[in-house]
This record gives sequence, structure tokens and C-alpha cells, in this order.
Amino acid sequence: MTLRQLPVLDVPRPAVSARPPTAAPASLTEFVTDDLALPRFHVWTLGCQMNKSDSEEMAGALLAAGCAEAASLESAELIVINTCAIREAAEHKVIGRMGALSRLKAGNPALRVVMTGCSVRADNAAALGRRYPAVDLFLRPDEEPELVARLGLASPTGPGSLGRGAPSYQRVGRSLAATAERLPADRAAAVGEGRVARSSLTHAWIPIIYGCDKTCTYCIVPFSRGPERSRPFDDIVEEARALARAGYQDVTLLGQNVNSYGHDLPPEPRFADVRGKRTLGRRLDLDGKPDIAALLRAIDSIGTADGERAIPRLRFITSHPWDLTDPLIAAMAECASVCEHLHLPVQAGDDAVLRRMGRQYTVESYLALVERLRAAIPGISLTTDVIVGFCGETDAHFERTLDLLRTVRYDQVFAAAFSPRPVTPAARLPDDVPLAEKKRRLQALLELQEEIGLERNREWMGRSTEVLVDEVRPQRSHEHDGETRSPAKPGQLRLAGRNRENKLVHLDGAQELVGARVRVRVEHAGPYALVGSLTA
Ligand code: SAM
Ligand code: SF4
Ligand code: F3S
Repeated sequence: MTLRQLPVLDVPRPAVSARPPTAAPASLTEFVTDDLALPRFHVWTLGCQMNKSDSEEMAGALLAAGCAEAASLESAELIVINTCAIREAAEHKVIGRMGALSRLKAGNPALRVVMTGCSVRADNAAALGRRYPAVDLFLRPDEEPELVARLGLASPTGPGSLGRGAPSYQRVGRSLAATAERLPADRAAAVGEGRVARSSLTHAWIPIIYGCDKTCTYCIVPFSRGPERSRPFDDIVEEARALARAGYQDVTLLGQNVNSYGHDLPPEPRFADVRGKRTLGRRLDLDGKPDIAALLRAIDSIGTADGERAIPRLRFITSHPWDLTDPLIAAMAECASVCEHLHLPVQAGDDAVLRRMGRQYTVESYLALVERLRAAIPGISLTTDVIVGFCGETDAHFERTLDLLRTVRYDQVFAAAFSPRPVTPAARLPDDVPLAEKKRRLQALLELQEEIGLERNREWMGRSTEVLVDEVRPQRSHEHDGETRSPAKPGQLRLAGRNRENKLVHLDGAQELVGARVRVRVEHAGPYALVGSLTA
């Protein structure tokens, strides 16, 4: 058997020879086929859920082509790096591995490295080879479905062998971005042919809209992923139905801005009750077009034979405050499967900073939205993203962000220091908050949020909550927040899962509980997690 040599791609490299074939004993030669062993692959995924979902599709395509998954990057013959470019640090993680990858390649000349994800853009194609010298093939996010074909692994008749048509490009700011034009159809084909290697048996992602039409001045995503392209409504509902049939209990609809789902789809009579015009930013006429509220209602209505919700937990991420409409809040409140949790990035607590960020809302309008959400969905847990040290952010501006955290009392905050990104409008503004000051503000914010998170979690003490158990944890993982728990009883394991409010909950129980929804009484609360016991 010979290892199938992958082609040398895109970046010219010295010719290398395949691994020598192993000679078969003469007595067995009639049984030896000329099959070539396909490379074992490893996908290294950085970044957000969108990337994790894309990686499931790439892994599924490679498995469908006959490749096996390698246990580690070091034991793979094909490494796929799915990159994130949101901050410089995410890109440095990959740049920092180039030396190790080059050494692996020196030891195994058959090894091929593919890089994809948000670091690969239409505007930086020329520089990539220099920046990432160990990489053989660069694929933009819109080219990911071509992975198998571009590696020469597609069978003449199988998936991945068909032409996808030429990519299209659109101007975003001063730059050119590839559009996600072909991704909705590629996704439908991958789902239809069972080519999505889902990483969990309980949770699943469904991408519903690709790209981003917003113009947040700090953000690279519109340049990496191009303008918004929604998937057809029925394709999404069909994918949800298939997940329900397969027993998935927690489904998350994905997009950079899921709330603007559908604005680019044609109107249809069945969506006649969807009405709206967006007047902020790019003006949109939404009358008669599918929207996320209709999507939530359609997925919520998928039932089991005994009249239960076929998918008991439905989530969506990420929501931009612009497009969080009252019909969407109503759908969240009325659909029993929609979880009582919303991630609603605020980014900053000062209007001048928000304006410079291009966020198109004020602190006042954001707080009004939070009030409407809390009135419609009592007990909803809210999480957010914050950037500290954005261009021109003064101490007083930053203090107003802390005030906002005190007012909203988020359940969790994902905060990061501003990192200027190439081609974004903010890259042309002075990055005038010194690094030490960014770090100080980040630390101050995290300390405040730790107090708030602890207070919020203590409100759960003594309450019963539904937990979808999804992992077995090592014994030590309960010994957090200064609390040391007694060891699990014989036959019991340290388990963890999430409640509908997306709180991490630790409990002890039997292995069989993994994948089950159980009732847990909360007995201990830390800033980042709850601990409880199974109730009858
Ligand atoms: N679409 C989401 C929204 O509307 O806020 C955000 C998605 S973005 C992939 C995730 C988070 O990364 C953002 O909410 C922001 O806080 C952070 N982020 C984006 N660009 C950044 C930058 N240049 N520096 C630091 N953080 C950044
Ligand atoms: Fe980036 Fe803004 Fe789009 Fe979110 S909405 S992905 S922060 S440009
Ligand atoms: Fe990163 Fe791209 Fe997601 S930049 S956060 S992987 S959309």
C-alpha cells in the first residue's frame, strides 16, 4: 500500500517523493490491490463557533473522501488550520507554530498543510506565503468546500468533484472581499449527503447567514467573510428536522449577525406578516421576507409523535442590537424551545466610543432593549462582548463601560483589549491607549465582572434547574472557586452540562447521564459556574 501523495499546491515547493511502498510477500501478491492510502488529517480550529461549524464541514468532506482522522496534529499527513483574525494574538498563535510545522514537514515530506479561515482574505493573498511559510494551500472561507477537490482527493463522481462556479467579489470599504455566494448551496449538499462531521451528539450548529454587512470600524470579519448571504429558509428547517431525527437536543443558529437573517432573500406570500424597514445603516425593505423570528417559530414547531418539542433547546448567536426587533423578542418569549439566554454584544458603555466604533446604537437605546428583553423573558441571562482601549477611549469613557456593567449586571462578559486589524477603518485611527493602560482597564473590568457574575450566580442557590449533561470531567474540576468537594461516590463521575440559561453546572452522576436532561438543585455558586446535585 502506498501513501497517496498529495499534490504540491499553490506555493511552489521542491519536489518530494512519496513514502516507499511496502513490498508484499510473494504468496500474497494476488491479493494486493493498487489502492493508495489516503492521508490522515487533523483540523486545528481557532476562533468562534462559525469556524467550529466550518471545521465540522471540512472534516466531514475529508471523511467522506475516505481519509481518517489523526489523533494529533503531529501524527497527521494533512493538517488543516482554520484560522481566526479577530485580534493579532489569534494570528500570532498560528505564526508561532510555523517553525514546528516546518520541522514536521522536514521529517515527513508527504505532510501537507492547508490554511483557511478568516486570516485568508482576498486582499492579502500575495502576503500569505511569506507570513505562513509552512503552508501549502490557502483557502478563503468561501473556498472551504473546495478543500477535497483542491487536494486531488475527490473521486471523479463523488462529492467535491463538481465545479462550483467562479467566486464573486464585492467591494467592502476600500478593499475587495470574496462573497459567500456559493456557501448556502454547498451547505445544503453537505447536509444532504451526510458530510458534516458534528463534534457533539447533543449540541449542533446550523449556519443560517454567512458574512456581515455591518461596518464596525474595528472589525475584520466583513473583509474576511464578505457581505451577508442568507441560506434558504426551507434548507435551514430541513437541517433542523434532520438534527431532531438524530436526537440533537440543543441547536444553535449561527451567523455573525443572525438577526438580519433573510433581508437578502426574495419576499414570499407565506411571510406576508413580516413587515419592516430598517432605517439605520443600509436601508432595507423587509416586507414579506423570511426573518429569524419566522425561523425560530418554524423550528420550534417541529414536534415529536407525543407532542413534545423535537428540539427542546434552540439558541442563536450572534445578535447585533440594531436588528433585535420586537417580533424577534416576541418569538423568543413565545417559543418554548428558545432558551432564556441572549448574547448581546455592547462593546462599550459610552456613546462617543460607540459612534467611533460604528455600532449605530446609544447606551440609552441598548438599555431600553435590555429592559424589553427582561420584561418579555423573565429570568433571561444576558452575556456580552466588550472591547477596552479602543482608539480615543479616555478613563472617563472606560468608567462609563464599568457603569454599564453595573447597570445591566450581565451573567458573563467576554472582554478583550482593542487590537488594530489591517484594512479596517480603525486601523487608520491613532491606537492611542498604551498597552499597559489597555491591560489595566481589562483587569479592572474582569474584576468587576467577577463580582457581578458571582452575585448573579448566587441567585441560583437552592433553585432547581434543568441541565443537559454533556461531559465527564476529571475529578479536580469541581475544586474551584475555593471550594473543595468531597470525592464522587463509587460509581459516580464528575459531570458537567449547561442549563437553558447557558450556565455551566457541575454535578456528580453516572456515565449514562451524559446526553440526558436532568433536574439539578444548585448548592454552590462561583463566578463562572454552579455546582449542584441531582434531584429525584
Ligand atoms: N457580530 C458580533 C457583534 O455584533 O458584536 C461580534 C462577532 S466578533 C467575531 C466577536 C467579538 O470580537 C466582538 O464582539 C468584539 O468584541 C471582538 N473584536 C472584534 N474586533 C476586535 C478587535 N479589533 N480588537 C479586539 N476585539 C475585537
Ligand atoms: Fe464584526 Fe460588527 Fe459584523 Fe460583529 S457586527 S462581525 S463586530 S462588523
Ligand atoms: Fe475569528 Fe473569523 Fe470568527 S475572525 S471570531 S473566526 S468570524
